Amino acid sequence: MKKKYLLAPGPTPVPEHVALEMAQPMMHHRTPQFSAIFAEAASAAKYLFQTEQDVLILAATGTGGMEGCITNLFSPGDKVLAVNGGKFGERWGKISQAYGMQVVWINVEWGQAVDPAVVKAALEKEPDIKGILVQASETSTGVAHPIEELSKLTRDRDDLLLIVDGITGLGVFDLPMDKWGIDAMVTGSQKALELPPGLALVALSAKAWKFADQSKCPHFYFDFKKEKKNLADKTSAYTPAVSLVIGLRRVLKDIQEEGLENVFKRHDRLARATRAAVQALGLKLIAPSAPADSLTGVFVPEGVDGAKLVKSLRDDFGVTMAGGQDQWKGKIVRIAHLGYIDTFDTITAIASLEMALKKHGHNVELGKGVAAAQEILLEAY
Ligand SMILES: Cc1ncc(COP(=O)(O)O)c(C=O)c1O
Repeated sequence: MKKKYLLAPGPTPVPEHVALEMAQPMMHHRTPQFSAIFAEAASAAKYLFQTEQDVLILAATGTGGMEGCITNLFSPGDKVLAVNGGKFGERWGKISQAYGMQVVWINVEWGQAVDPAVVKAALEKEPDIKGILVQASETSTGVAHPIEELSKLTRDRDDLLLIVDGITGLGVFDLPMDKWGIDAMVTGSQKALELPPGLALVALSAKAWKFADQSKCPHFYFDFKKEKKNLADKTSAYTPAVSLVIGLRRVLKDIQEEGLENVFKRHDRLARATRAAVQALGLKLIAPSAPADSLTGVFVPEGVDGAKLVKSLRDDFGVTMAGGQDQWKGKIVRIAHLGYIDTFDTITAIASLEMALKKHGHNVELGKGVAAAQEILLEAY
């Protein structure tokens, strides 16, 4: 027998009561019964986004939500600035290029957050930039970009949008959309929302909706104006992901009951505990200066093959974490804190990492990381 633990930064574990609620017999989506559920989920999502604006619920992965932001808000030839400090920042730029936008790349060293002064200078040099595209949490590097600081560059300008990929940020740390003046924010169901993959949630500011009126970019499935109109009728343009929406309503209720502030504190505690643990083990953090609370990444020690370590954690120990992508392939391990993850999942992550490192020839003092984490995790009790 081998019990499995899912501790990668998405998909994340689905709570049993949510899975059971989603397992109810299929219902038709054009019914008052489903409309009530859909409207309740969309309304509760405003609490998560900290916005008064509509939150669109799309049957898509997070990337679909990102693509929709580009194709609904800009036009071919428009200039956008992409903060490229990892795999997902690069994706913002690639999507924009696919639709004919001009991309001003701000390349950021992996493991570092973007410097708002660099973005400011780029905006001054090219005042016709119409959008800043950035991740709240760059999952490939574990970095939290300074969204509040960036919002100061955009919120007083009516010709420039701040578009935030909140896919591993929303529901993990504070991203008050209306307060900061974020113009578009996206998340996906399989991260902090504790659901299977398949939903993208998107909200736009009043300023962004004006951009949507001007956009001349071709799009069909991801038509935000059409979705907004349908949402007013408590439905979606096309067949919604019925079971996932049922799950979404449940999870959002749970988040409301726990309170966003407590949700953020939980992620912060698990992240701090993990950072303390890996440092006690002498491992080097991949994002030492601006770590996101969604995940903690560490470099594997010299002499240990990171890809083999991650495979061994999964196949020998039953613990799925994530390895590295692109330039960090085989070099890092990423441990998730987002979603339905708690104290003893975090202990499992650290204990299994210690054991796997020892099995792979690295001399670690077993329990040293666990003890460092426990000191911090005790704060919750
Ligand atoms: C920050 C970030 N952006 C975008 C994505 C892409 O989301 P999806 O795979 O749901 O399309 C991910 C997925 O890991 C992510 O972590």
